Parts: sequence; structure tokens; C-alpha cells
Amino acid sequence: MQYGNCVKSKPLLLLNIAQLLTLALRSGADGPRRGASLSDLGIIQHAAVLCLAGKIVSVGTTKDALRDPWLKKNRKKVTEIDCGGRVVLPGFVDSHTHPVFTHPRLVDFEKRISGANYEEIAEAGGGIRSSIDGVRKASKAALTQKVVAVLADLAGHGTTTVEAKSGYGLSLESELKSLEAIRAAAREWPGTVVPTFLGAHAVPPEYRERSQEYVDLVCNEMIPAIAKRKLAQFVDVFCDRGAFSAAEAAQIFSAAERHGLAVRAHMGQLSETRLGPLLRYQPASLDHMDHVNAADLPALARSDTVATFVPGANYFLGLSKYPDARRFIESGVAVALATDYNPGSSPMLSMPMAMSLACTHMKMSPAEAIAAATINGAWALRVADRKGSIEPGKDADLAVFEASDYREIPYWFGENRCALTIMNGAPSGHLPS
Ligand code: NIG
Ligand code: FE
Repeated sequence: MQYGNCVKSKPLLLLNIAQLLTLALRSGADGPRRGASLSDLGIIQHAAVLCLAGKIVSVGTTKDALRDPWLKKNRKKVTEIDCGGRVVLPGFVDSHTHPVFTHPRLVDFEKRISGANYEEIAEAGGGIRSSIDGVRKASKAALTQKVVAVLADLAGHGTTTVEAKSGYGLSLESELKSLEAIRAAAREWPGTVVPTFLGAHAVPPEYRERSQEYVDLVCNEMIPAIAKRKLAQFVDVFCDRGAFSAAEAAQIFSAAERHGLAVRAHMGQLSETRLGPLLRYQPASLDHMDHVNAADLPALARSDTVATFVPGANYFLGLSKYPDARRFIESGVAVALATDYNPGSSPMLSMPMAMSLACTHMKMSPAEAIAAATINGAWALRVADRKGSIEPGKDADLAVFEASDYREIPYWFGENRCALTIMNGAPSGHLPS
């Protein structure tokens, strides 16, 4: 289940594209990208893309597009966008965000600068729990407005599909309110939103020392209510030291499975958890993955579970270590990149910035970073049949960048070079001429 708007848009032709990164695999192989195939961007030079009714209908060179008999006949009916030698790629698929919160956590920010770490701040009453009050007191309309603003900012940076988690309400009522705010905001955005229920983000204060009772509430009341109202596609768990154990995560996954919801988890951010028992539930993605037992990599590589790195969190928490992306890629694990946009560990919504961090700190190549931010993000959300590459039949989700070479996208950082985003066939804004 996703929220995507069916846009009754005019036919759209993008032409004079210096490099079109189609992400279409020549081999026709299916499944998430692994190993060497992560570097295959399917580039067409001097390219054009034709979109009709929100879908991509043809992809090729500008020269061939202009010779096309249908286009010759219908040119007046088509909105043309002259890309003027820029780079066009699939809109980013940001497969991990936490947009439903009310306040930035500025005290935590200063404490960390003075030397406290993420876990110490959480134990002292900061961290995830300090965002609960704001969400519980906020109206659904106020939360919706907050998410609407985030979605607009994401699109401005080239993101066209976003996963949005609840997880700062942590009571039945406020988790439902958070997911309803995501749904209401998604209706106002031309892009696509995949909602995720993250009731198991932290144990709320009223359940302190009674975490099993809280897990039972998540499994027996929250998941059934959310499934019944069709408010989420995924159930997520923060499985780590100081959060939820692997046994608790398995209990939550099994409740999700009983209610027809797919699963994903925050895993290995602070400490290592063995993956075997959780891979049985076929999670779509395991995210963070800073700490992993090397013996688990072969099983992960054999599965379709994506390992999603969120280097914005490493950056913002001031860590010198980042996930060992090369080891995952060389083991054949499918990897994705996401922003982890949230007020505690990653107040960043730019996928190009996540890619830049992946290149400089995780030694991913620019090509690998782009595949991880597009097609593999789509696999991590199970929307790869419609998203993540520029191929006939897929949704017309495109990003135009102020660049003539794709490597510039992660190269320039600290400025936004996304010139235009097209979501389900609808352009947002105009290119400077
Ligand atoms: O992905 N690790 C758990 N969740 C978020 C942090 C959320 C927060 O600190 O508010 C993360 O980093
Ligand atoms: Fe997160």
C-alpha cells in the first residue's frame, strides 16, 4: 500500500539531456542491484524521455525522439522541457525518514558537542523520548502541515518517493494520529509516500521497566488497529542495545506478518545483533548496519533484504566510523542509501548529501551511490516495479540536476543543485533558461 497521486498531466517531453541515467539493466536481470551491477547506470547521452499520463513511454536519444511519427503529429499537445545539457536521473527513493515530529532537539545537539554520546543523552531524558510530548500534544492538522513542508523540501532536493515513519507518539492514539498525518500530507503531494509504523522506536516513559507490556501493546493493539485502517505498508523496529531486543523484534515481526504487513528494522546502529532469526521474516530492509557479524553477510547476500546505510546519522552524531559499505558490496549484499531524516540523529533531507557522505566516508563510487539512492531504494520499499529507473511503463519520476556529468551530484556538497523534479508526470517548478 502506498499513497501516490494519479496525475492527469499533459504529455511531457524532456530533451537535450547531456546524460540520462536510466538505471535500466542491459542484462534484463531482476532483483536489487549487487556487486558490479551497482555501477551500471545505463547512461544515454544526448537523450530524451517522453511521458504520458504520469508514466514513462519512451526513452532514447533526442534525435530519435524528434523523428518519432507520433511526436511529429502531436508536438503542439506536448509540454517540452529543454534540459539544456543537464543530467537527468530517476527521482531519488528515500527509503528511511521520520518526518512526524514537532521540534528540533537543540539541547541534545549542544550536549553532544560538549562530549555526551547518543545513548548518554537518551538515558538522561533526551533522545527519542524527548520528542514524544510534542507529538502527543500536537493536532493532526499541525503534524500534517509539518509533513507537507518536509515533502516539499524533499522534492526540491530530487526525491520523488519517500518512506515516512511514525514513531514519536508511542501510544495507540498518537501513533494513529501520526500515520493519519502522513496520509493527509501525502494527498497534498504529487510524489509517492510509503507509510511505516514504528511503534517500537522506544519504550515510552509510562511503560518504563515494563517493556514487555509495551511490546504486547504494539503487537496486540497497535498493529491490528493500523492494519485494519490500512495506515501502513511496513512495521519497523529499532532493534539495538537500549531499544528493543532481537526476541522482541521477532515478536513484533510475527504480529505484523499475521496482519499482512511487511517488515523492516533499524539494526546495528549501536551494537551487533545476529541476523539469522530475523531474516526468516524476510524484512524488506535492515537499516544503519554499522555493526554486523561478518558471518551473517552470506545469508544477507542470498536474501532480497536490502542493507540501507544512513550516513547522515554518522555525520551528525560526530562518529568517525561509518558502515563498511565495501565489505557489504563485495559480499554481494544489495545496498541502498537513505537520509534517515529525523530530529535526533540526522536532520538532513538531501539524498545528494547522503550520497556525498557515502562516497567520501564509505568509499562507494558515485555510480554505486546513485544506484543505491534510486533503484535499490525502490527495492528496499518493494516498489521497484514502478520506481527507481527510467524505463517505459514505470512512473514518470525524474530529477534534473544542474550538472553535465553525473559524478557532480555527490561531488558538490552543501548546495542544492536539483533544478527540477517531476513526480508522477507532474513537473514542480521550471528550469532556468
Ligand atoms: O534512525 N535509531 C533510531 N531512530 C533514529 C533516531 C531517532 C531519533 O533520535 O529521534 C535513527 O537514527
Ligand atoms: Fe531511523
